[in-house]
Amino acid sequence: MPTYRAPRGTRDLLPADRAVFDRLMRIAADLTARYGFRPIETPLFEQTAVFERGIGEITDVVEKELFRIAPRTEEAESWALRPEPTAGIMRAYVQHGMQTWPQPVKLTTTGPMFRYDRPQAGRYRQFWQFDVEAVGDAGPAIDAEVIELGHRFYTEAGVRDVEVLVNSIGDPACRPAYVETLKAHYRGHVATLPPTERDRLERNVLRLLDSKDPDMAALNAGAPRITDHLCDACAAHFESVKAHLDALGVPYRVDSGLVRGLDYYTRTAFEFYVAGREGQQQALGGGGRYDGLVELLGGRPTPGIGFGLGLDRVALVLAEQGVVAEVETAPLAVVVGADPEDTVGRLRVATLLRAGGLRARADLGRRKLGRQLEAAGKDGAHFAVILGDELADGQVQVRDLQAGTQRLVAMGDLIRDLARAEGSHKHG
Ligand code: HAM
Repeated sequence: MPTYRAPRGTRDLLPADRAVFDRLMRIAADLTARYGFRPIETPLFEQTAVFERGIGEITDVVEKELFRIAPRTEEAESWALRPEPTAGIMRAYVQHGMQTWPQPVKLTTTGPMFRYDRPQAGRYRQFWQFDVEAVGDAGPAIDAEVIELGHRFYTEAGVRDVEVLVNSIGDPACRPAYVETLKAHYRGHVATLPPTERDRLERNVLRLLDSKDPDMAALNAGAPRITDHLCDACAAHFESVKAHLDALGVPYRVDSGLVRGLDYYTRTAFEFYVAGREGQQQALGGGGRYDGLVELLGGRPTPGIGFGLGLDRVALVLAEQGVVAEVETAPLAVVVGADPEDTVGRLRVATLLRAGGLRARADLGRRKLGRQLEAAGKDGAHFAVILGDELADGQVQVRDLQAGTQRLVAMGDLIRDLARAEGSHKHG
């Protein structure tokens, strides 16, 4: 047992894992560029109030899962690691006056989030999200556009059987009456409520609907549905979102039990699941509309919609479904030499090749040529560049380790020669 280990609920992404994440991030970057989203980075920690106000004080994420940073001095502000990026991005939207930019402002970020949750498969204390936010458009067309983008991300990543669940959770016009109806429902069962839920009944009853407590499942199944209590404007918005999704050919299912776990949502809410795993706290991703959030954080009333997709869970599902990312890590060429002591020569040639844009390694072990060639083969290198007597005439031997052939190449032609060979290898 090693003395030091990664903190509970966190993982090291070893090179093979990291390669999977890199691929997902490349797909995310490419897709969002096509859809007109621009990258943004906000700090990994914010004033705690940004999360308390934005996400809501009586939510699991803030009440139980926030990583608070212990201040070094009494008078220091209170900070917390970000459990999600939306609140921080909206803080930045307000701080930098983005309401004066052409609307909607379409932003994207990908990075680590932190939640002090009970670790289990697919649930970590540090996890990665691919996030997009479209701010300043009240929808409903853009709601469908964002959902379609999320769906396409899974398709391009190669995840099979992704299901889109959608719902509307109303707005300040219709939600208060629904909240009262919901309270009445649970008040009839107070004695059977787990302690957290009993405590939240009067303070934030909506959060009972997304409770992780298994005892709540039956009670929630019989709860009144928000979709039966939507005002006309919210109902029309929801109908239009669905019509746009139909027109785009995005397959979806309405789940009137879907409420999401954060307080800022209004109207459109959605989640992505692998079919058959709905409702198991294993959403691959989720998002929705948050028309009150910018105002909550001190800005002018501004509508917005976005999503966060959990990359750790996507990586898990890809592994389960047997989708492997092909990543080229082997060097194109390994520079070896007849004189074991001539590390300078080998390193110089490798440096030359790298400067020319090629993946090259120099064998820096002081060992015989045969052993160097053996190691190059094990590395999966395509070529060995062999420095020998020909060097005096400005030439090296290039051995194609895969074909087993060898030829003399002038040093001046080496980069072009190897680059051409790599190109024909890739495309041929
Ligand atoms: P969320 O549903 O809390 O939404 O998280 C989004 C996704 O992050 C989840 O569906 C899941 O895949 C992943 N995730 C959450 N917690 C964990 C965890 N502990 N371990 C691994 N993965 C996790 C949000 O965060 C919103 N900010 C999404 C959003 C953006 N809504 C509007 N804009």
